[in-house]
Amino acid sequence: MKSTLDILEATITNVMTEVTGQKDCSALVRPATDAKFGDYQVNGVMPLAKQLKTNPRKLAEQIVAKLNSATADKLSDICETPEIAGPGFINLRLKPELVAANLLQISKDAGQFGIEKAEKPKTIVVDFSGPNIAKQMHVGHLRSTIIGDCICRLLELRGHKVIRQNHIGDWGTQFGMLIAYLRVLYKDKLKQPDSVSIGDLEQFYKNAKHWYDTDPTFADSAREEVVKLHNNDKDTLSVWKEFVKESRRHYQPIYETLQIDLIYAHEKGESFYKDMLPGVVAELKKKGLAVESEGAVCVFPVDSTHSTSSGQTSSPQAGFKDKEGKPLPVIIQKSDGAYLYATTDLAAIRYRVGELKADEIIYVTDARQGLHFEMVFTVAKMAGWVKPETELVHVTFGSVLGEDGKPLKTRSGENVKLKELLDEAVERARKVVEDKNPGLPEDEKKKIANAVGIGAVKYADYTNNRTSDYIFSFDKMLAMEGNTAPYMQYAYARVRSIQRKGRDKGIEVDKEIAQSQSISLTEPSELDLAKHLIRYGEAVSSAVSDYRPNYLTAYLYDLAQKFSSFYNDCPVLDASADKRPTRLLLCDLTAKTIEHGLHNLLGIEVIEQM
Ligand code: ARG
Repeated sequence: MKSTLDILEATITNVMTEVTGQKDCSALVRPATDAKFGDYQVNGVMPLAKQLKTNPRKLAEQIVAKLNSATADKLSDICETPEIAGPGFINLRLKPELVAANLLQISKDAGQFGIEKAEKPKTIVVDFSGPNIAKQMHVGHLRSTIIGDCICRLLELRGHKVIRQNHIGDWGTQFGMLIAYLRVLYKDKLKQPDSVSIGDLEQFYKNAKHWYDTDPTFADSAREEVVKLHNNDKDTLSVWKEFVKESRRHYQPIYETLQIDLIYAHEKGESFYKDMLPGVVAELKKKGLAVESEGAVCVFPVDSTHSTSSGQTSSPQAGFKDKEGKPLPVIIQKSDGAYLYATTDLAAIRYRVGELKADEIIYVTDARQGLHFEMVFTVAKMAGWVKPETELVHVTFGSVLGEDGKPLKTRSGENVKLKELLDEAVERARKVVEDKNPGLPEDEKKKIANAVGIGAVKYADYTNNRTSDYIFSFDKMLAMEGNTAPYMQYAYARVRSIQRKGRDKGIEVDKEIAQSQSISLTEPSELDLAKHLIRYGEAVSSAVSDYRPNYLTAYLYDLAQKFSSFYNDCPVLDASADKRPTRLLLCDLTAKTIEHGLHNLLGIEVIEQM
């Protein structure tokens, strides 16, 4: 179903064109910033007045007059008489009849919540998580993993074909170091590589790296191992395979704990592209884009948006610069023949567009990789590997900080392991459950602690504007007040308990809802909740169009609060017979919407009883 916002936008834009003859105007209808002024406001009059060099308030008056005239009868079905405010805003207030009708429709159209499908579904590759092999996942991988997963769910809900890609770091010099190290010190482990645990691998890698950095002879032998690996040496390759497997045994359970839809089939790590790398370099050379520079093969990317009007893009002035103002290259092959992270990303773009037929590729990594992706995207465009209409998007995020405002580390200064962090969250959530409901059976307690603990970590991350850093605090994320997972889970459980109580009292809850043909919204808090419920689709749209889960969590929190006010003001089970079906329906849709948001879109468990 088309959202009210979209209908308003289209109707008012039309009227603006009719009034002014201006074709390229738009109403810019946005949710009102303050409910005092109505539900939506039209922001597009002022820019249009400026363009036409006319008085914005007068123009707003003309538009409103037209909107009120018979020709715009559609609008009067939706809104009360529009009001002009300030220098030229138009405020719109939805009619209760429209709210009631939409609510009924959403409740009948089970599971879709009035969410609109994309007009032109696209094939979208989402590259997220990407842990590095032989290391444990740390808190730095949390954001990419969960934000990426939520973006996939949002896009799928809108009807796009989503291809999840886990670009694991499974190729490169670190394996050379690791294997060279074992060759010298732990020959037996090389014979039984499947006996090496992820913890061992991590420790060996740390030692090997230190050795590599301090001893040129060892560094040489590490490089030799890399060459062997790259030449598909059988023994080296089979050791490498075991290490990748062990790493997978480590991260797959973490995905399951976090309810992340990433499986082996989504894994296309760096090694997947290894045989394509020579071709990437050769093609870039052939196209005259790659040049030798100080022994390495480089491309100097030039953003076509900076190009001259003649289409000549070779002016180095328009390219990327280092601090001294010298042109900055993307190195695609080192003088020793080794390929780089960027070379693999170029091969991946070519594959994703060429083979996976991606219309859009989304990369979810922290903001520090911004320049890397900007340069790689530019090279891919110069090479003609992406069409002008293919979208390449880098969805960035900030860091997770400790209470001291510095990147979250353990006391000894190490990265916090994701597994340990999640275990601690569940343990702490267990205490919350013990406090709230000590009489629950043991397995219930366990289940709830798990849902609350993991939910709290995820939800806290999602509520933060992804581009900012945030301070990780167990106390805050596990609090029963504020916009937290336990608060939302509790809100859900409360609505469900109202329904249960109703059934216990002999009220045929589902029948009453199913049979309600008309809805009467008389109390202000009732209408307020209903209006919010019909706007779930808007929250989903804004979250997906900006790849920002926090729009969704903000919506859910408002919903829980509006439900609280409604439930304070309006009896539900004891309501009179003419009011009860509407109120039962409001409860039901509230519960279903929270469940859909938390569970289907954020991958957080809801709990029937807390
Ligand atoms: N392994 C990388 C890291 O830990 C993330 C991979 C991101 N994806 C990509 N196509 N480069 O930083």
